Amino acid sequence: MAVTVKLDRAGATTMTLHVWAACSMRLFDWYFDGDTPIRHYQEAASRGVSVPPFKLSGSSAEVFEELIEGGGAVVTGRRTYDIAGAWGGNGPLPGLPLFVLTHNIPEHVPHGESRYTFVTDGVESAIEHAKAAAGDKYVSVMGASVPQQCLRAGLLDEIQIHLVPVLLGAGVRLFEHLGSESIELETIRVVDSPGVTHLRFRVVK
Ligand SMILES: NC(=O)c1ccc[n+]([C@@H]2O[C@H](COP(=O)([O-])OP(=O)(O)OC[C@H]3O[C@@H](n4cnc5c(N)ncnc54)[C@H](OP(=O)(O)O)[C@@H]3O)[C@@H](O)[C@H]2O)c1
Repeated sequence: MAVTVKLDRAGATTMTLHVWAACSMRLFDWYFDGDTPIRHYQEAASRGVSVPPFKLSGSSAEVFEELIEGGGAVVTGRRTYDIAGAWGGNGPLPGLPLFVLTHNIPEHVPHGESRYTFVTDGVESAIEHAKAAAGDKYVSVMGASVPQQCLRAGLLDEIQIHLVPVLLGAGVRLFEHLGSESIELETIRVVDSPGVTHLRFRVVK
């Protein structure tokens, strides 16, 4: 299993969605500043799925394509799901099953290409279901609280960070609530691309 996360401090509970969008746009410049489209999204667009017009640098596109090719399911929390407007039913990666941790299952769920499952009995259960759905592919974990819970429970194998050179003034911290023990990481790969550095770590267990 891998987790794809960014050092995203935008989106504190006190911020409005508009402010979140304004802050976070800077973090996503590298998705649009290049000339290489992402095949998975191009194919989704050709099926009529509404997807962002990603155009990355060549080296970022390689990292991104690898993530998509290797992924078999996604787990996230209800807040990310709500902020994203449920991705219109198509999930963050169209076609991949999505597992949403929540205490309250929404009444209305949009229909699209991705199968949505709402999990109310804890992070271990969400990961177990996602692993079963992913088969021999990895499970991606999105947001802040769910990766933190996974780290605490010893469920994460890898962390991938797409590091953008900006310090945001406020927001949700990715690496906190991890307990008092250090968590050792081993650097697997560093790809320095225009506007973003892709870092990949193994969680030492
Ligand atoms: N940069 C990026 O690529 C990226 C991608 C995704 C998200 N983000 C950022 O991540 C932030 C959102 O992450 P977040 O950590 O604040 O929220 P989150 O993990 O998306 O959602 C938290 C919510 O999920 C539910 N939940 C989490 N764990 C649960 C459990 N074990 N059992 C039951 N329900 C559980 C709870 O919702 P309920 O109690 O309401 O059901 C909880 O309030 C935003 O700021 C967003 O910008 C960034």
